Amino acid sequence: MEHTVVIFGASGDLTKRKLIPALYELFRKGRLPGDTRIVGFSRSPFSHESWRDSLREHVAHFTGSHFSEDLWGQFAPHVFYHRGDVLNGDDLGRLGAYLRELEEGRPHARMYYLSLGPEFYEPTVVHLGAAGMAAEQEAPRRLVIEKPFGRDLQSARRLNAKVHEVFSEDQIYRIDHYLGKETVSNVLVLRFANTIFEPLWNRRYLDHVQITAAEDLPVGHRAAFYESAGILRDMFQNHLLQLLTLTAMEPPSRLNADDIRDEKVKVLRAVRRLTAEDVAVQTVRGQYRRYRDEPNVPPGSETATFGAVKLYVDNWRWQGVPFYLRSGKAMSCRTTQIVIQFREPPHMMFEGGPRRIHEANRLVLQIQPAEGIQIHFQTKVPDAGMKMRLTDLDFNFREKFAGEMPEAYERLLLDVMMGDPSLFARADEVELAWSIIDPIQAAWDAGGPPQLELYEAGGWGPPYSEEWMHRQGRTWFNVCPVLS
Ligand code: BG6
Repeated sequence: MEHTVVIFGASGDLTKRKLIPALYELFRKGRLPGDTRIVGFSRSPFSHESWRDSLREHVAHFTGSHFSEDLWGQFAPHVFYHRGDVLNGDDLGRLGAYLRELEEGRPHARMYYLSLGPEFYEPTVVHLGAAGMAAEQEAPRRLVIEKPFGRDLQSARRLNAKVHEVFSEDQIYRIDHYLGKETVSNVLVLRFANTIFEPLWNRRYLDHVQITAAEDLPVGHRAAFYESAGILRDMFQNHLLQLLTLTAMEPPSRLNADDIRDEKVKVLRAVRRLTAEDVAVQTVRGQYRRYRDEPNVPPGSETATFGAVKLYVDNWRWQGVPFYLRSGKAMSCRTTQIVIQFREPPHMMFEGGPRRIHEANRLVLQIQPAEGIQIHFQTKVPDAGMKMRLTDLDFNFREKFAGEMPEAYERLLLDVMMGDPSLFARADEVELAWSIIDPIQAAWDAGGPPQLELYEAGGWGPPYSEEWMHRQGRTWFNVCPVLS
């Protein structure tokens, strides 16, 4: 079947930086289904030609050495532009007529990609419905919705209800681009395609899990958006909780979208909700020192740009094992990692052997920038009596597999075209994630403890975060990418 990809918000950043470059890459690799048409829709006055021209430099920039004029010349004729306003029902009606014309009367599977501000999701969906563009009599109609999906449980529920009035759940693809990253999918392969890890993956052998998404960049020009979000809504509700579910879930019996998502949902249900008293002792919040100088940040803003949260998953496997989630802007480097911290050996017969948690075995799943895995274990230092040292064993994707690692959006866009929602969040998943985040956000918004602490850019967040960990007899794994 032929495909049409319609991008609402065609003149936006995401379209230029991610979506069109990803579609170009799929085309270059011969994976874009034959004769796919890509239609941009926004209020900006482009012609087909001028939109193509405006995209060319971005695609060249973001695809680097993969860009060639020749290939661009073959790709560009697949790209079209239609001007209109998502708030105007008639404009969407006209878009529908244009798409039918472009598709020359043949059934095309359509993807409607909402690369829009969240306030436009609902009206766009309503107008798509009114224009008869969601009906699937002829061919699939799939709706892709970017994050943020709501700003709390109540708004996410409302949005789900509104979208469900027009599209059924199996037509909806809620994007979390972390799920398109290779190493994120590899968490499942590592756990469930091997026998050596899974038997240890539980409360008996693990002390705790740390999931860190650190970014060196400050908020910068995104402050207007960031002020209404903050670190919990921007990173925890989606990316970090997704990483937690993949780390903690039980093996699904089959690798299909429903089985996988059912298991993830069970984890989210089992996460213990925090009371305001819990928030005071189980979270840390911070703001980098120069945040209030960023354009569009009101003086005295209390928006957190750093957060650390300790969660428990109340089930047999994980009872008593803390999951530490941490993320921050303006940190020492860009790194996303899941650290599986094992317990110390139950009995130590070697003098000076590992007696403290951070000297025990550790498995580091490096999600980005370099993708790979590192195992930390004790070895004997040669020719030094029985002296021991924690050493490591690396697996680096780039070294083992030739070729570039694909961008998350390539995988995700292709999955939508193929109708595979495994790597997309289901309605219940999104709502459960909000139900975990809401009480924390509410306690922070109420100004309760912990106090917002300022931190210097270029470090690992507020000093209190380190102290908080030490008080629990643990240390953060503050290592910039372990693999390069
Ligand atoms: C986005 C957040 O969802 O993820 C940004 O809105 C953040 O604030 C980004 O910078 C991080 O994505 P990545 O892929 O660079 O880790």
